[in-house]
Amino acid sequence: MEYNIAVVRGDGIGPEVIQETIKVLDAVGNRFGHKFNYNYVLAGGEAIDVTGRCLPDETVAAAKAADAVLLGAVGGPKWDTLPGDERPERALLGLRKSLGLFANLRPAMVFDELADASPLKPEIIDGGLDIVVVRELTGGIYFGEKGFKDTNMGLAAYDVEQYSEEEVRRIARVAFDMAMKRNRHVTSIDKANVLESSRLWRRIVAEIAADYPDVTLDNMYVDNGAMQLVRNPKQFDVIVTSNIFGDILSDEASQITGSIGMLPSASLADGNFGMYEPVHGSAPDIAGTGKANPMAAILSAGMMLRYTFGLGEEADAIENAVRAFLEAGCRTFDIAVDGTVPLTTSETGDKVSSLI
Ligand code: IPM
Ligand code: MN
Repeated sequence: MEYNIAVVRGDGIGPEVIQETIKVLDAVGNRFGHKFNYNYVLAGGEAIDVTGRCLPDETVAAAKAADAVLLGAVGGPKWDTLPGDERPERALLGLRKSLGLFANLRPAMVFDELADASPLKPEIIDGGLDIVVVRELTGGIYFGEKGFKDTNMGLAAYDVEQYSEEEVRRIARVAFDMAMKRNRHVTSIDKANVLESSRLWRRIVAEIAADYPDVTLDNMYVDNGAMQLVRNPKQFDVIVTSNIFGDILSDEASQITGSIGMLPSASLADGNFGMYEPVHGSAPDIAGTGKANPMAAILSAGMMLRYTFGLGEEADAIENAVRAFLEAGCRTFDIAVDGTVPLTTSETGDKVSSLI
């Protein structure tokens, strides 16, 4: 089969991790007889430099025309002083909204070999940690009404948190479907003791839960959820939550694994379309040094094969290659322990490709 992928290399370490991901995808193509076509498009800081805009219309059009989007990372200090609307990060929000990517899957798992990397005590993550945060991605306070108004306390700025029934329904379904393929446990995280939007969220999630009698549903307030994630993360299987809570909790979840350089993500639309990117950012401090870990991007490509192209065996091949890499004692700079000589970004790509 032939697949067309729109590729945003992006800024900082983005192009470096994408280059290694392409190596691995091509190795998968060779082994399984597929052809992956890459259409390189601009978004983020590079797009600002070249076109004056963080998300050119041609990029959105190319993304829509592709079977899936693969993205490295965007942003960097060079563009930090631009107004909010023109910053590279805006490109991500624009892509999410214009492509209808309402479901963001952020797995946080600990690879056995990397258990020591977690900042949590060993007994807390013993036996492995495997959580998926299902974050709503095109609604809530990120996309609600925003603006300024004069008040007797001076100028005020506001951003509205709002969720509609249908927005909650579709993200809840994604979470329950995911739980059915995993350990059949959904924790919905909200702030229903305070927020009206959370009370609607909770009511709709309960409604959807009725369609999944085999899945256990727990509700949790976000402050407690943040605490439980470090106190007893193994209690979680699938977490479903709003855009802003998911932003915060997915960073927390990724950090407790201790190896954010290993974590992929998928942002899915209705149907099979999706955008795939590492959880980490553009890490400008290590760009160009060969120290970036391309594994999160490589595993994101694995998610692309699984969720958009329906290539389960090929996706397994990528995950197994990453596991074999770790089992062979290979390490990248971010996860190296004393005494191991870390592989560079491109050595890592070569090694993982050879294990496909
Ligand atoms: C993320 C990022 C983005 C977000 C920013 C860069 C707009 O933090 O993908 O989690 O807040 O969604
Ligand atoms: Mn974030």
